Amino acid sequence: MNRDKVTLVGAGGRMGQEIADVLLGNPLLTLGAAIESEESPLLGLPVPSFPDLSYDADLGRGISRCEVGIDFSSPANLRSTVEGFVQAKKPLVIGTTGLTVADRDFVRDMGAHIPILWSPNMSLGVNLLAILSGQAARALEGFDAEILEIHHRHKKDAPSGTALFLGEAVASARKGSLSDLGVFVRHGLTGERDEGSIGVMALRGGDVPGDHTVFFLGPGERLELTHRAESREVFARGAVRAAAFLLGRPTGFYTMADVLLSGEGQGP
Ligand SMILES: NC(=O)c1ccc[n+]([C@@H]2O[C@H](COP(=O)([O-])OP(=O)(O)OC[C@H]3O[C@@H](n4cnc5c(N)ncnc54)[C@H](OP(=O)(O)O)[C@@H]3O)[C@@H](O)[C@H]2O)c1
Repeated sequence: MNRDKVTLVGAGGRMGQEIADVLLGNPLLTLGAAIESEESPLLGLPVPSFPDLSYDADLGRGISRCEVGIDFSSPANLRSTVEGFVQAKKPLVIGTTGLTVADRDFVRDMGAHIPILWSPNMSLGVNLLAILSGQAARALEGFDAEILEIHHRHKKDAPSGTALFLGEAVASARKGSLSDLGVFVRHGLTGERDEGSIGVMALRGGDVPGDHTVFFLGPGERLELTHRAESREVFARGAVRAAAFLLGRPTGFYTMADVLLSGEGQGP
């Protein structure tokens, strides 16, 4: 069976390499183009898991050879990548985090032109954690909600996109928004905790792929809901599954919840 080809943007990065490895064994999709930045020292070198392909900076050429895109690169690169896929009318999965609200609105709007999916976390467990956190936020009225995340020392944005996603799940369950309720720094004489606020704090170090805990702190008891990613492979598998899901879909903005609820696009 002919496998559909993926244009992988950010192919030489930590996630890009993991996704290429997952594509190697996927029955539905394969790697068709490995896109890297114009400054990348990898340009022209073979992709380790697909030695017949080499890293390339020409996004348009990559898109023209493939049926679907996956982007795990950098927020600075987001708009030009999305515009390339919109021009070619091909579906795109985005895992890049650190997006501004305007970036996210832009991605959502592009759902009018192509099937497009953005998720700050492609794992099944984290998407379920968001649902459970919303339920806990509703059930534990009056409990203080706080979120703590830990990531490897190379991560460039803080707090993680996943921590913000979880914070939004808690805030919207309490009929608010994280932009109003979120507290992202505590230092010095901060005064007492504002009622209803949601602390979102980040630790950095080592090679942690991603830990997230949502705390609900009440009088005399606390609930901690924790997700730990043991490796990046879980995100890579989710991204590939999302790409298979988008193929043949109508235009629209999709999330990982749509993929997980559909039960489709599951590779090994
Ligand atoms: N959604 C999820 O489940 C999930 C999970 C993990 C990570 N992430 C996010 O995914 C993104 C990538 O993470 P990572 O750990 O793989 O980072 P990384 O190792 O820094 O990889 C990013 C790659 O993108 C490349 N790049 C930068 N600008 C580019 C451009 N214009 N065109 C093509 N490639 C470009 C970088 O090249 P240079 O090094 O040459 O700049 C680098 O190779 C981050 O935003 C991270 O937070 C999401």
